[in-house]
Amino acid sequence: MKPKLFLTRMIPQPGIDLLKEVFEISCNHEDRALSRQELIAGVQDADALLCLLTDSIDREVMDAAPRLKVISNYAVGYNNIDVAYATQKGIRVCNTPGVLTETTADLTWALILAAARRIPESDSYTRKGLFRGWEPLLMLGQDVFGKTLGILGMGRIGQAVSRRALGFGMKIIYYSPDTDPSTLDFPAEKVDFATLILQSDILSLHAPLTDETRHMIGKAELKMMKSSAILINTARGPLVDEMALIDALRDGQIFAAGLDVYEQEPDFSMAMLELRNLVLLPHIGSASIETRTRMAIMAAQNAIAVIQGQEPPAVVN
Ligand code: DGY
Repeated sequence: MKPKLFLTRMIPQPGIDLLKEVFEISCNHEDRALSRQELIAGVQDADALLCLLTDSIDREVMDAAPRLKVISNYAVGYNNIDVAYATQKGIRVCNTPGVLTETTADLTWALILAAARRIPESDSYTRKGLFRGWEPLLMLGQDVFGKTLGILGMGRIGQAVSRRALGFGMKIIYYSPDTDPSTLDFPAEKVDFATLILQSDILSLHAPLTDETRHMIGKAELKMMKSSAILINTARGPLVDEMALIDALRDGQIFAAGLDVYEQEPDFSMAMLELRNLVLLPHIGSASIETRTRMAIMAAQNAIAVIQGQEPPAVVN
């Protein structure tokens, strides 16, 4: 008899094909996230769980799944899982690092340029028929070339974003206590947190969400930033105090911001919709066909490896 895997939402077919060879799969076929009750009911007889970053896998869920051996998260971030409790219960927790690095870095750059050069605002202006011809003061933004890029969290994605900045002639500074500059294959200056906030023209966040990083960018930090600065977040929403950001953008404390992630996803303050200097995306950092397929394959390989008693490609505990 095959072991059972519970899949909380459909993922690209190549991942499902791999899983089918090993598991009896039970799956949420609807195009919506599961309710908590459905999640708890679904894991009850599962040996493996393949879940999304939107599924909160806490004690209650794990306690409802006495046979569970592996939680394979379809994401690199795993702040949705109580890893300490999983470890205590002997459940392996796996994620999908590496395969989404470049795609997320591309999207980060799309947000940088969109916010700096007011692209969404200009697009909507043009569509509304407001373009009357070239104007000296129309949609003036910020230069990106030659500016200082500040990276908070110089992991894989922070590094990939930095490499792209070389083509823009940028100086790179970063705050990331565990990353030594000698390990980087591009020039970058390691600075303290205050220097990062004060000197960045573009500040891009790439730290994981932990108790230490929650609200790392709040009222005080936004006040310290240059009035011409741009804040970009493609990591996790709670790194930024969203209410403080709204005030800072409204009061012109910083020039603009670009967000792919939110504090209470998928909800966000309606006040954000009124801010023309804020670019909003629906958490699509890794959303390319190729990358989501690679993530599906890796998440499947992780679950299969654990069930077969092998070391999975990416495990966090
Ligand atoms: C992740 O993997 O953590 C991203 O947020 C979604 O791909």
